[in-house]
Amino acid sequence: MLRTSLIGALAMGLTLGLAGPLQAEAPDTEGPQFEDPRHAVTWRREELKGIERLVRQLRFDLVNNRDARGAEPRLEELTRLASGAHLLPAFIEGSHGRGSEARARIWEEWEEFEAGFLALEERVAALREAAEAEDYRLATRELSDLSLTCRSCHRRYRY
Ligand code: HEC
Repeated sequence: MLRTSLIGALAMGLTLGLAGPLQAEAPDTEGPQFEDPRHAVTWRREELKGIERLVRQLRFDLVNNRDARGAEPRLEELTRLASGAHLLPAFIEGSHGRGSEARARIWEEWEEFEAGFLALEERVAALREAAEAEDYRLATRELSDLSLTCRSCHRRYRY
């Protein structure tokens, strides 16, 4: 009994040791890797709040000010943050409850949940194209579609 748990501990030490260098090579669009659910929840909620702020600022840039150049760095930041590569690593299995609004259903329907972020990435890309073309009418419509994408995921996966 003692021996098997020792072997287990050794094996785990090895795995953790090996995981180190692999994590360091992850592309910089990805967020940190998480083991502690509370840390994962805090991190992803901050990121999502940042995304919400960016979208609000972009509405101001594109709808109110018609300022595609001012929007450009924010659109770049939004492309990086509002993506599955950036956010999904923080949705570690079972990290609902404890200050989170995530529904357990996320992990029962992981592929659909992932698809929600793909849809988000597509909407952000479309918004960026509209802004680059300085088509403010289209950008306004794209901003509404983007918000619908946020809401449709929240309806299903967030309390
Ligand atoms: C594929 C699903 C999905 C998409 C798309 C999505 N969200 Fe969320 N969002 C969630 C989940 C799940 C939570 C709850 C996270 C938690 O509390 O652990 C959440 C929480 C949030 C929060 C609450 C954070 C807090 O601390 O109060 C904000 C703000 C937010 N999302 C903004 C957005 C915005 C803005 C968009 C679109 C640009 C968006 N989300 C798109 C799934 C999504």
